[in-house]
Amino acid sequence: MIAPISIISFLTTLGSVVALGPAAVNLRTAANFAILAKAGVTTMPVSKITGAVGVSPIGVQAITGFSLALASNGEFATSSQVVGDVFAASFAAPTPATLTVAVGDMGTALTDANGRATPNFTNLATGTIGGLVLTPGLYKWTTAVSIGNDVTISGSATDTWIFQIAGTLSLSAGKKVVLAGGALTSNIVWVVGGAVTIAAGAHFEGVILATTSITLETGSSANSRLLSQTSVALQAATVFN
Ligand SMILES: *[C@@H]1O[C@H](CO)[C@@H](O)[C@H](O)[C@H]1NC(C)=O
Repeated sequence: MIAPISIISFLTTLGSVVALGPAAVNLRTAANFAILAKAGVTTMPVSKITGAVGVSPIGVQAITGFSLALASNGEFATSSQVVGDVFAASFAAPTPATLTVAVGDMGTALTDANGRATPNFTNLATGTIGGLVLTPGLYKWTTAVSIGNDVTISGSATDTWIFQIAGTLSLSAGKKVVLAGGALTSNIVWVVGGAVTIAAGAHFEGVILATTSITLETGSSANSRLLSQTSVALQAATVFN
């Protein structure tokens, strides 16, 4: 039965040829979290998060607005605003060690994404990217990026995007990041040096690796993972992935 093996190797080759964009950023165990932050996660109720939430090295005191209920084993907590579990470095073992590894993996991913060289696009549209269609590739801005109108990320389900932004990233109220052509949010990475602000009613797509804070204003949503070196603030926001 040589034929099926040949077909498989042909398809594998074809797959590797057609995928466009940079090598994927490996989130390792940080991918087990919808929200992971070193200094805190706050919500102004009612937010809705699908996936795990974690803070480390800070303890549970830095998770506010969730009305947490601690599990009887002390290893995690639950909240009516989270479809998943909530973890803090102050919880019982093995949670602190698990979080230390995840936060380390988050830092490794940020360093990896920030370190990618030879961008396909540098300072595209001087950072004002509303209305554009973004094809696969590595994008670098030495400035802030603002999205004042809907922006489209277009490519196949195997294509990848890395957006390196030295300054802040802001998505204006009611505006959207739109995916087209089968593009997957898990293949999109925004690595941001300044604060990230998703304004009221806006919708965001893609993994965020933030050097500072991430804020989702009232009624906004993100099909995303929010991974912050400092804190994440939600104002009646929706986060899923
Ligand atoms: C992006 O740049 C890299 C390195 O120069 C190149 O190999 C690749 O083909 C470019 N990708 C796209 C989608 O243009």
